[in-house]
Amino acid sequence: MPTLKPECAARGQSGTATAAPPRANLAASPRSTHRRRRRSALLPSVLTFAVIVASGGLLLLIEKGMLNGMHTPAPLANAKQTDHQHRVAPRDPAVDVESQILQDIRNRTIRAMCGQQNSDHSVWSMSSPQRKTLLQHILVNEKYRFLYCYVPKVACSNWKRVLKVLSGALADVHVHLKMDHHADLLFLSDFTPDEIRHRLRTYFKFMFVREPMARLLSAYRNKFGEIKAYQHKYGAEIVRRYRKGYAKKGKVAGDDVTFPEFVRYLLDEDPERMNEHWMPIYNLCQPCAVQYNFIGSYERLEGDAAYVLERVGAPQDVRFPERQAWYKPVTKETLHYYLCTVPQKLLRELLPKYILDFSLFGYPLPNVTTDYCRH
Ligand SMILES: *[C@@H]1O[C@H](CO)[C@@H](O)[C@H](O)[C@H]1NC(C)=O
Ligand SMILES: *[C@@H]1O[C@H](CO)[C@@H](O)[C@H](O)[C@H]1NC(C)=O
Repeated sequence: MPTLKPECAARGQSGTATAAPPRANLAASPRSTHRRRRRSALLPSVLTFAVIVASGGLLLLIEKGMLNGMHTPAPLANAKQTDHQHRVAPRDPAVDVESQILQDIRNRTIRAMCGQQNSDHSVWSMSSPQRKTLLQHILVNEKYRFLYCYVPKVACSNWKRVLKVLSGALADVHVHLKMDHHADLLFLSDFTPDEIRHRLRTYFKFMFVREPMARLLSAYRNKFGEIKAYQHKYGAEIVRRYRKGYAKKGKVAGDDVTFPEFVRYLLDEDPERMNEHWMPIYNLCQPCAVQYNFIGSYERLEGDAAYVLERVGAPQDVRFPERQAWYKPVTKETLHYYLCTVPQKLLRELLPKYILDFSLFGYPLPNVTTDYCRH
């Protein structure tokens, strides 16, 4: 079996969650099994859609710069939110008004939604595999006292570089070295429960999110387009399962998985056990159980990363690296093209699977109407 070296693997995971073999029972009516197993928590609620519509509209305003010069709405009068004022206290690094509004939307949405569903509200009440996933995705920096929950395909390699520089393991972020995703990194799972509790309570906690479909497409293009080990392991399996006439074929390269085939595979996978590159961000970072102080966006990476570095008190000369030259961005057009190759029926099942990533982080659902796809 080929070893999988995913670009942002969690410690000790390369053989387990990262490269979890497709579940054996999948052949037997997998989808219905999953439906029964899925918690109602993942089903879209009326509230979810209200939130999407609301935040989608706001995001549109933000995109168009229409909120410049407007003030953030006053917080609800509730004791928990009195720290609201401190955000604009002089000591706080400047973060532009749009980013601030986005944070506010995310905070409010998370508060409203996490209260609604019977989701895991504490690290200690969630199932043990879920907790393991979470703790293996939170990186710790002791010197600057922060926790970073990394999400694969959301600039996590560059954040790991930054963490290594901050802990003194790397001279600077531009060092031309193949990134080692385990060495010199400290994971929350390395600590005892008491130490974990203490850090969750007192350290600055942040994560970065990305438009869910762009993240999936990025994973698809990278893993199936470029990484041999993934083609062998996942690609071959996907082709056997979903391509007519391939079920019993002896040798399948798995290097030509189509995006619709990948989507069909995702629909049959359990979000709590998926490979981390396509596991919903919600399951990786558990924003209902961990109160993140800052949720940055991949779409505004430069500004948001600079804010975090300033906020944790990193030395001035530590800057977030620019995109590597080989990086292939997912453009709006590319995303549109790929999404429109997926049959409507599959898309209608796929979006609910990632609904918490859309709604909690304020991403509007993509327009995948036949009308739109005709253009
Ligand atoms: C969002 O919530 C976090 C955690 O409670 C808090 O630290 C942060 O200041 C809040 N941000 C905004 C913009 O309200
Ligand atoms: C989707 O796109 C089509 C065609 O451009 C447009 O008519 C429709 O109003 C859009 N729907 C939404 C929900 O934006």
